[in-house]
Amino acid sequence: MLKTLLSVLSAVQFQSIEALSGQLGDSQLLIKAQLDDAEALGIALEFVENKGYRLASGLDLLEPEVVSGLLSSAAAEMVLTLDVRDVVDSTNIIALNRASPGSSGYICTAEHQTAGKGRRGKVWASPYASNLYLSAVWEFADGAGALEGLSLAVGVAVADALSHAGVNGVKLKWPNDILVDDRKLAGILLEVTGEPAGLCRVVVGIGLNVNMLAAAGIDQPWIDVKEISPEAANRSQLLALILNELMPLLSSFSQRGFLSYRDRWLALDAYAGRDVAILMGKESVNGKALGVDNSGALLVQTDAGIQKFSGGEVSLRSRS
Ligand code: BTN
Repeated sequence: MLKTLLSVLSAVQFQSIEALSGQLGDSQLLIKAQLDDAEALGIALEFVENKGYRLASGLDLLEPEVVSGLLSSAAAEMVLTLDVRDVVDSTNIIALNRASPGSSGYICTAEHQTAGKGRRGKVWASPYASNLYLSAVWEFADGAGALEGLSLAVGVAVADALSHAGVNGVKLKWPNDILVDDRKLAGILLEVTGEPAGLCRVVVGIGLNVNMLAAAGIDQPWIDVKEISPEAANRSQLLALILNELMPLLSSFSQRGFLSYRDRWLALDAYAGRDVAILMGKESVNGKALGVDNSGALLVQTDAGIQKFSGGEVSLRSRS
């Protein structure tokens, strides 16, 4: 596994392929192929003839025991499995495949996603060991209707976790972007399987920019934790802080609903009172953003009165 090699590579001392092969018990050919893979993934390596390889800078690899050690007792009880992977297509895809009876609390996280999914069919940039990519499964007995506002409530949970980490200035943009200075810090993608009116399972996918080493193909202004608060840019700690907020939210959401998160969402609303355009495919509506109603629908003052917009393919743009 690439991660095994990267965890023994030093950012200080050079190591030869022979030495790495001896240490890991893998063939020299496999070690060389993994070093090539690492470089192809954007991990900067230094090579010196007769000395070997070293990392150009330290890597913040996910450490499952650090995450587990920082979980609150409530969150620890609710985490069924903490599945820390190396390279995956998408943690949401892995979690969707795991979603089955009794899978509440299955968490998948990875160092790198080759096909990270964003909202509205976009790709979520997922460079190796740079950011957080996590997906959590939770079962709901009362159908997809009971999930109304859940993605907004997850935004509040992530904002709270970031605030506990000392990351200040976090705001929410409807429906579920997390911003600092109007630049995207994190995104949330919920996917639901099962009976629309009965037992269903939701996969809550969260992508958080922590230390974007190689930013390629991001088509909007973005920011990472490292830029806001360098001392908070530790992926394992941030993962634990997010799970500490997310797990109690998931386990109580069917009783509490969005209403109990609405005031906090409104207090964090990045677009409150701003001139906005609502885009729905080729159509767009202009108006002033007025926050959200009790179900999490966006309220917009337009020339035709106050209009409500709900999730799906709707997106929001600032006009100011
Ligand atoms: C958005 O477009 O804002 C939503 C981005 C969600 C990205 C996360 S990363 C972990 C999980 N796995 C995915 O493939 N997507 C989500």
